[in-house]
Amino acid sequence: MILEETYTLSNGVEIPKLGLGTWLINDKDARQAVKDAAEIGYRHIDTAQAYRNESGVGDGIRACGVKREDMFVTTKIAAEIKSYKKAVESIDKSLKTLGLDYIDMMIIHSPKPWSLFHGNDHYFEGNREAWRSLEEAYKAGKLRAIGLSNFEKADIDNILESCTVAPMLNQILAHIGNTPFELIRYTEEKGMLVEAYSPLAHGRLLRNKEVMKIAAKYGVSVPQLCVRYTLQLGLLPLPKTVHPAYMKNNSAVDFEISEEDMTFLKNMK
Ligand SMILES: NC(=O)c1ccc[n+]([C@@H]2O[C@H](COP(=O)([O-])OP(=O)(O)OC[C@H]3O[C@@H](n4cnc5c(N)ncnc54)[C@H](OP(=O)(O)O)[C@@H]3O)[C@@H](O)[C@H]2O)c1
Repeated sequence: MILEETYTLSNGVEIPKLGLGTWLINDKDARQAVKDAAEIGYRHIDTAQAYRNESGVGDGIRACGVKREDMFVTTKIAAEIKSYKKAVESIDKSLKTLGLDYIDMMIIHSPKPWSLFHGNDHYFEGNREAWRSLEEAYKAGKLRAIGLSNFEKADIDNILESCTVAPMLNQILAHIGNTPFELIRYTEEKGMLVEAYSPLAHGRLLRNKEVMKIAAKYGVSVPQLCVRYTLQLGLLPLPKTVHPAYMKNNSAVDFEISEEDMTFLKNMK
């Protein structure tokens, strides 16, 4: 059962193979969403400073009845923070807002601030500074693992050239119809796990006729097919939902997509 399975990160830390995404879950609903997810068997929650729900997520972690050490919590340094000092402050703020003694995984949300996401400036220096703050918090035991998000090859190389602790994962956009195979291969070659965010294309794949047809063939829902697709690629999916029924559905993925259908799905545009 997928909820009981883990990947092992390069530093030996185990990370549950399925995580609950929490983008767009507001702070007051996050507590209940985390509690519901934990009751269903989820042990991995993905939040971020930018989601403004770290407080609710932390409440949910403390209230869910599962031992802290059995839950895996990821949060992210806001994309706009590109200085060492601000990054250090933001890590301590996340710990405080979450109300946790340690965070399992903390990652740089994006190499570029969102408003300049399509610009040419890679913020190489700022990302090295943010990375140094993560390394220090990791060495101090505040974070069990550290990583990246939305990092392309050049951004990854920038960190690898100067780091003292190598990143353990890269969280990127990956779903049927948009799977960046080259970046996945490169990230994995560098010893990192790849997490697939927006595995349902933010819900858009639910209306895709071709995907619906393949899901029907396996007697599963489109979200189940999407989650299973990323798992069969060796990725860690983070489907988001507030509905317990959807949480259950997204975690019931003990079926196998055939090689032929995987090839079709991989090539879908
Ligand atoms: N690192 C980054 O830059 C980044 C960027 C984007 C996302 N993420 C992470 O990845 C997570 C997932 O991505 P996402 O939020 O963009 O979208 P997603 O998981 O691809 O899709 C979420 C949508 O699908 C719906 N849904 C989920 N399960 C369903 C089911 N079984 N049946 C029917 N509908 C279902 C949800 O509905 P309801 O909301 O009604 O439940 C929601 O509208 C985020 O929450 C966040 O944690 C990270």
